[in-house]
Amino acid sequence: MAAASDYFAVRPGSALKGVTTVPGDKSMSHRAVMFGALAQGETHVKAWLPAGDTEASLGAMRTLGVEVERHSDTELTVHGGQLQKPDRPLDLVNAGTGIRLLTGIMVGQPFPSVLDGSEQLRRRPMKRIIDPLRAMGADLEGTNDYCPLYVRPAQLKGVEHKMTVASAQVKSALLLAALFADAETRVIEIGPSRDHTERMLSAMGVKIVTEGNVVTIQPTPVLKPINFTIPGDASSAAFPVVAALIVPDSDITLTNINLNPTRTGVFEVLQAMGADLTITETGTEAGDPVGTIRVRSSLLKGTQVGGEVVVRMIDEFPIFMVAALFAEGRTIVRDAGELRVKETDRLAVMTAELTKLGANIIETEDGFIIDGPQVLSGAEVYGHDDHRISMSLVVAGLAADGETTVLDAECAADSFPGYAETLRKLGADVRVQVLD
Ligand code: S3P
Repeated sequence: MAAASDYFAVRPGSALKGVTTVPGDKSMSHRAVMFGALAQGETHVKAWLPAGDTEASLGAMRTLGVEVERHSDTELTVHGGQLQKPDRPLDLVNAGTGIRLLTGIMVGQPFPSVLDGSEQLRRRPMKRIIDPLRAMGADLEGTNDYCPLYVRPAQLKGVEHKMTVASAQVKSALLLAALFADAETRVIEIGPSRDHTERMLSAMGVKIVTEGNVVTIQPTPVLKPINFTIPGDASSAAFPVVAALIVPDSDITLTNINLNPTRTGVFEVLQAMGADLTITETGTEAGDPVGTIRVRSSLLKGTQVGGEVVVRMIDEFPIFMVAALFAEGRTIVRDAGELRVKETDRLAVMTAELTKLGANIIETEDGFIIDGPQVLSGAEVYGHDDHRISMSLVVAGLAADGETTVLDAECAADSFPGYAETLRKLGADVRVQVLD
């Protein structure tokens, strides 16, 4: 990630109005280039997300000899077929999804590989994929359970794996390895995590069935190419949604948003808090339901969040923390300890940065407690090279008194290129400035 030389300058006061959309779904964009590479033939992808994380996956596929034709930033053709032995480590930069899914693919290849990334990625836990992949017969080792990961060829076997962590990345790594195994694999989830891997592999000809919390997949080393149009990312939509809820007199509509139920937990929780959200399904894209979200400013009520919904809103907790500050009464979040092993420890970092804006948050081991509504005052805060932290702090600034400076604006482009422009289009006063 680039040095923190850009910052967001945020001024409160303007209501958000109008209609817009958000960039393509990050989870699906990673998968589209990886799965396209495993297909025999051409996979055309439209509305692909050209962001730091997904470009890292695309770059890694090119290092594996895959030709990816770029028609524009967002439209590409993946020429799939045989992966080739890479002549250097596969660099996934900051992308946790990129490295965990690609490791699932690499353990099934007839050549060795090394997977690595930035200093930030080297701090993220990999034991969660190393152990279950080894149980399938994979020959891989980490560096004290972190990356770089060293993979050697091995015959994989079909297994039954009961997951111990609620993670779509771990589930996906196992399902991808299972494509190359000698027999059926069954993955038993703790609760339903995002299912893009299952939906996309099924559309590409893989026999994969989900019954309750059990996903059963048959080995299928070569996929059928298909065309994808990727819907707008629900996780990115959550930022303008919360902004419109907490900035008075706002009324916005976001179109073409992915409404896959494994991704919409945050909208359900906000609705239960009294948020005026009208969600209308308009069709399907790449196997996922898509639709429109209309949001009007609302007086929110505190709530309790825990259990199965947590994994369905795992990326939205930083922005949800901002919403909770403006809700009347107490909000308690539990069972969200996974937030401590994301790009940053998101519980600690959000608590520390929002405290600089005057917030009063009780951080707990696996969540937080907020008594609201609270009044925030503009200040200088820091995004910690974590896109969702930076973008959440911008929204907090829009509802604070006075100006807010969010140091580290570049990292927003890891998932949401054009974030400031999107908010400005809706009338918010957010600019990207360069630090002299
Ligand atoms: C993702 C899964 C989630 C999520 C990440 C994307 C995916 O991670 O936080 O942003 O695309 O599978 P975990 O599986 O670690 O919860």
